[in-house]
This record gives sequence, C-alpha cells and structure tokens, in this order.
Amino acid sequence: MCGIIGYLGRRKVLPILINGLLRLEYRGYDSCGVSFLYNDDLITVKTKGKVLELKEKLDLLTESTIGIAHTRWATHGIPSEVNSHPHTDFLNNISLVHNGIIENYESLKKFLQTKNITFRSDTDSEVLVGLIFYFYKGDLKEAVLKAISQVVGTFGILVLSKNKREIVVARKGSPVVLGIGEDEYFIASDTSAIIEYTKDVIYLNDGEIALINDQGYYITDFNNEIIDKDIDTLSVTLDQIEKQGYKHFMLKEIYEQKDVIKNALAGRIDLKSNSVILGGLDFINFEYLEKLKRIVILACGTSWHCALVSKFIIEKYLKIPVEVDYASEFRYRDPLVDQDTLVIVISQSGETADTLAALREAKEKNAKTLGIVNVVGSTIAREVSCGIYTRAGPEIGVASTKAFTNQLISMWLFVLYVGQKNNLISIEDRLKIIKNLSSLPEIIFEEINNSVEEVKKIAENFKNSKNFLYLGRGINYPIALEGALKLKEISYIHAEGYPAAEMKHGPIALIDKDMPCVFIVNKNNNYEKVISNINEVKARGGVVISIATKGDVDILKISDYVIYVEDIDNDLTPFLNLVIMQLIAYFISDLKGCEIDKPRNLAKSVTVE
Ligand code: AGP
Ligand code: GLU
Repeated sequence: MCGIIGYLGRRKVLPILINGLLRLEYRGYDSCGVSFLYNDDLITVKTKGKVLELKEKLDLLTESTIGIAHTRWATHGIPSEVNSHPHTDFLNNISLVHNGIIENYESLKKFLQTKNITFRSDTDSEVLVGLIFYFYKGDLKEAVLKAISQVVGTFGILVLSKNKREIVVARKGSPVVLGIGEDEYFIASDTSAIIEYTKDVIYLNDGEIALINDQGYYITDFNNEIIDKDIDTLSVTLDQIEKQGYKHFMLKEIYEQKDVIKNALAGRIDLKSNSVILGGLDFINFEYLEKLKRIVILACGTSWHCALVSKFIIEKYLKIPVEVDYASEFRYRDPLVDQDTLVIVISQSGETADTLAALREAKEKNAKTLGIVNVVGSTIAREVSCGIYTRAGPEIGVASTKAFTNQLISMWLFVLYVGQKNNLISIEDRLKIIKNLSSLPEIIFEEINNSVEEVKKIAENFKNSKNFLYLGRGINYPIALEGALKLKEISYIHAEGYPAAEMKHGPIALIDKDMPCVFIVNKNNNYEKVISNINEVKARGGVVISIATKGDVDILKISDYVIYVEDIDNDLTPFLNLVIMQLIAYFISDLKGCEIDKPRNLAKSVTVE
C-alpha cells in the first residue's frame, strides 16, 4: 500500500524523491508529498493529486541532499492535501512519513492536546509525529523510540528533523528497505524505488530501527541493542519494472506469462530422473508425510483463487485433504491447526497484512508453514519455515496476472515434489506432467496471438454492460471467480463468478439480454453439464461468451461468441482460461479509458487489515 522513499547523500534530493515516488505509483495512492532540508529549515510540499502534479510544485534543482517522500493510501481521514504525508509537528521541527495504522491515535491525540500540541489533519500519522515531538529533547532516535513504545498498530516510518542531517527509520508491520550506495543511502517501502541507484540492500525486520547520517548507519532493536544485519544483493533489473513499449504494465505482464513460466521451471526439474528439485523442502520426507493429516492454504484475492485451484490438484494427486481459507477469516477464528497440519500461504507481494497475520497464527499453533511468494526478501518469505519463490519478476499492474500463473506452476512443482517423495505419482505420470507444464509457454504465446482480435470484438460489444456473470466448473470454477475479480478491479463493471451449477440456485434470476455470461466450457471438464447450464441461460435470453476447446464446433450453436483454447490435459486448462479472462478484462477496461495499472481505491500490496 502507499509508498515511502527517503534519501541522504550528496546528490540533489528532489529528483531522486520524485523518481522514487513515480516508481511507487503502481502500489496505488491518493495523494503525495515531500519534506526536505533547505538552509536548516524543513520544507514540506504536498498535493492531493498525482506525483507529476507534485513535481510541478517543486524546483527540482533545489540545493538539498536529504529528504523523505510518500504516496498515501488513506486509512484515517479523506484524501486531501492536509491529510497527505509528510506530516510535521505544529512547530515544523520534525517531519514524518508513515505507512500503516496507529490504532490508539485517538487517546494519544487527546493526551497530546492536553500538552498544548495541536493538529491540523484527521490522520493517525500526524499524532505519531506529535508524539515524537513531545519526546524530542535533541536526540531524534531516542524520541522515536519513546514514541513508538506508546503506539499500538503498524508502521514503517521515516523521520527527519530540521536540526540534523539524519533520518530515523523504524519498522513494525510495514516493509522498509535500506539501500546502500557510495556515501549515500536510500530508504524505501519497496525495492522498485531504489534499484536504479543500488543493488545492495538491508531489509529491516519488525522491531528494528535504523539511524542514517553522513557517517553511515546503524541498526538496533527497540531496546536499543545493536543488530548486525547482512547486506543482500537485489537481482531485479530496471527493464523489468519498465513498460518497454506496452501500453500498460498489465498487458506487458499478460504477455510475459510465457517467459515467467520458463523461469519458474528453470533448474527445478532434473530431466534424467523426471524429478523436481526444490531447495528448502527437505523436511518433506516419508516420515513427515505419514503424519501429515491435512493441508490448509491461506491467501487473499487472486492468490486465494490460486489456492482454490491448488486444492483440486493436491487432493487428486497427493490424496491429502486440503482446506482453503481467506487469510483474513482464518486469523480470527481460533483455527484448528497443529503440528500435523501443513499451512501453505500464497502471496505475490509477501506483505499482505491479513496473510502475514494468518501465517503468524499458524506458526503460533506449531504448524509447519510453506510460502509461495513472488517478492524475494518480503516479510512472508522471511517468516515461513520454507518456501517456493514463484519467480514471476516484479508485477507492477495492480491487477495480478503473471503472479497467479507462476503461483500455480509453483503449486504443481510442490505436488510433483511431494508425489515423488511418497511415491504417489509414478515416473511416467511425472514425465507427462513435466512435459505438459514445459509446453505451456509456447501454447500461451499462440493463444494470446490467436485470441486477441476476438477478445477485442467482445470488449467493444460489452464495454457498456453493467453486469457480467462468470461460470465454470471443477478445477475451472476458481478461474471463473478470477475472471469476475479481474473485470471488477480494472473496469469497475460489476461481475460475479460462480460454479456453473450454482447458477440455478439464485443468480439465474438475473439473466436477461443485458447480462453477458462468460462460460468456461472445456472438453473433459463436466462438458455436458456446462452445456446444460449454457442452454439454461440461452432459454432465458442471456448472452453467452464461451471459452471452449479447439475443435468444438457444437459450441458455436449455443454461444454468441466463442474463444478457443488448446486441447490439453484438463488439469492444466486453468492456465489457458485464465489468460483469456485477463485479456477480456484488460480490453474492456482499455476501451472504457480506465486507469488499468492503478485502478481506483486499490493498492498493489495491502499492508493494512
Ligand atoms: C489481484 O488482482 C488483487 N489486486 C488482489 O486481490 C491481490 O491478489 C490480493 O490483495 C493478495 O495479494 P498478495 O498476493 O500480494 O498477497
Ligand atoms: N494511516 C495513515 C493515513 O491514513 C497512513 C496511510 C498509508 O499507509 O498511506 O494517513
């Protein structure tokens, strides 16, 4: 959610801050601002609008080499200039940017008001800077430590005072990374803001605070005990986070699916033995599997849809019962997990607050935890007992596309890995699955090229629809849910996804000529049953868009539009149907002129509850 960037060094700070904010825009935000030191004064400039509007308000050549900046995703107080960050104390001595939520801000505010500290905004964050100011006696880090000891909630903060060239950074619940250059330091909520300057980074953990000045940096815990931290090297490159000629990141990322699948498989398959190699999963041996009673998969949004598909393949191939839960529900219901449960969390960002809290809950109950995570070094990736990186590369579009694909590839690798450990999947079957997975990039490439024109036609005809229904069965019912989610997110058209047979239990009441119904109707996937559901829609004057298997001519008779996908093993059809769902949502949204990569109200990584 929201973004943070800070800099201390020898270069002019404003271009670095603005550039960093532009790189963070994809996370979703409603307002932005900067604070910097100029002639020993703290200057703060903010806007309710976009980063480019902020840039217009600034003189980028200003001689300042230290500052902090923020893109806000409002939690407390409407999006407005006064509520945007940075926030300063009422005497303008200290400035702060904050990601997260201060839950006890109201009582803190009342207390500070009795001490004659006044406030301008409605935010929780301004209370924190007021509290730091209250404790400030010349030592900024000490004041920050005192303030955060009073705070209930989550934060990633950067704090700057007008008296000294130093930045204090603290983390509890919201990610912060420190980039180390030559005599210069970059601090950000997300590495994409700093990778063009340095590859050397330190990830702060919860409960850590850093002080950065011209002499260097040091990190302590909240009890002021020094912590020695390793410096990690980033592998992300600049071109991975640029559009490279595509109109939107989302379109680029849809096309990239063919490449990222190859990355996810690379080096993980031993072709001689047709086995899967996954470092870190060594605990999954025969003994462990004998005791394993069930698997629980936790996630949110698109990652949750991946969990639903995963249930089908795990139960089919590994014969282990799987329960899928929303992370946000699991964490609050005293869930029944123990040391004989494997809890798998799926997260693109690795920072989703609900998923992280659910993971911690599962660990608390002694479950073994496995993460399927895209962002290397993210909090979830670091807190799980073991994991599989999905290797989809940076995903910038807020609507998740290639991350889903590689989450599912990772889940297949997990299934193959466990299947070879407990001998449930024969070498022949492994060979077949591995061959099929390896053929996906080529098939997806062809599919996109072959279907784009038909999808554009559909988009043109339905861009003004108010509602959509997405229906599928079995392993493809979660793909129907995902199709509906994608459309909602980026085109703001109301859409519902259902298992096709559920339609007659309620949603059928909605069917009329204005209700496009997208059916996933692959051969071998309860084909006849889905055909009956299509007929039920046609009988009520509904419009049918079918995603069907190549060669199925019968489907033409009962559909208004047909998009064909390759005839492949039914268990792998979700990959192909998913891409069509993404393209439909993308082209409808594009025709409507929506902000595809940064849809309203959404954030790329949801780091608040
Ligand atoms: C996907 O298009 C969404 N923007 C959203 O549902 C997302 O999948 C969800 O917030 C989970 O994010 P994560 O995978 O980073 O944990
Ligand atoms: N809770 C703070 C606010 O509403 C910070 C929001 C954010 O993380 O951007 O201003």
